[in-house]
Amino acid sequence: MDMFEKLSLAGLVPVIKVEDAADAVPLCKALCDGGLPVAEITFRSAAAEQAIKNVHAELPQVILGAGTVLNIEQVQRAVDAGATYIVSPGLNPEVVRYCTNHNIPVLPGCANPSDVEVAISLGLQTVKFFPAEALGGLPLIKAMSAPYGMMRFLPTGGISEKNVVEYLSFPKIVACGGSWMVPGDAIAAKDWARITELTKNAVKTMLGFELGHIGINCENAEKAEADAKALCAICGFPIKDGNSSVLVGSAFELMKKVGRGTNGHIAVKTNSIARAKWHLEQQGFEFDESSAAVKNGKMVAIYLKNEIAGFAIHLLQK
Ligand code: 3PG
Repeated sequence: MDMFEKLSLAGLVPVIKVEDAADAVPLCKALCDGGLPVAEITFRSAAAEQAIKNVHAELPQVILGAGTVLNIEQVQRAVDAGATYIVSPGLNPEVVRYCTNHNIPVLPGCANPSDVEVAISLGLQTVKFFPAEALGGLPLIKAMSAPYGMMRFLPTGGISEKNVVEYLSFPKIVACGGSWMVPGDAIAAKDWARITELTKNAVKTMLGFELGHIGINCENAEKAEADAKALCAICGFPIKDGNSSVLVGSAFELMKKVGRGTNGHIAVKTNSIARAKWHLEQQGFEFDESSAAVKNGKMVAIYLKNEIAGFAIHLLQK
């Protein structure tokens, strides 16, 4: 899997500034505990290089990048320290050329169509969009995506829990970067629990889990119909007869024969199945790949391997 694919599945890139290299490992551990093994450690402080070294040595699972990389010498130091991708606030063709010549994934900042054209001429298909909110945010990315349909963006700058879902809903956006889950005051206070909490919330907001429907196994079509009517009598949701099940609103699905799960199945909706699956896999959940339903080349549903409380669980794309 290439680096941008990994970042896209992670969905969020914490942009980090550490003054003390010794803080980098507990900080990244806090991110991992929050469900996000991703870090962009910026060369905005003298501690960056050592911080990258420490994280690379202690937490190899972290998808580790270097940010605010302004010249080739910093690229070399970052990569030698263990960074696996390079991020810059602007587009420096020298830095980009050096990275592409050395097969180092690079995300230079682009702020306008001219930058994007230079990035294209340098062979890039993914760039940072910075400073995202100050430049015009999602409307500007959408406008630029019309002529430059081949380009994908990683916006950073002013992104928070308030707007991250909207950004990520646009398919040309690979992932969003930001510092809202790693605020400077929490790092200074070594408040790792707060960083874990903010990270958990960020991931939760991004994935946007909600109950989709409950599928109930019935012995046969007659029983499914009778139970659907009984549920309808309680809640008044409309009954819709389908091939393999009877739906009661969007809340209940009465299966016409015993399907997956001892009792049935529970559908959990999410903003992004691909990201939800990746994040759950990081936590040790396993999926039944053969159950994946694909629509227009995108996964729209997939079952977990194990049942919970007698129910098979599947994710469902919102
Ligand atoms: C960056 O360099 O990507 C930004 O400084 C992160 O922006 P934020 O602090 O507004 O999230």
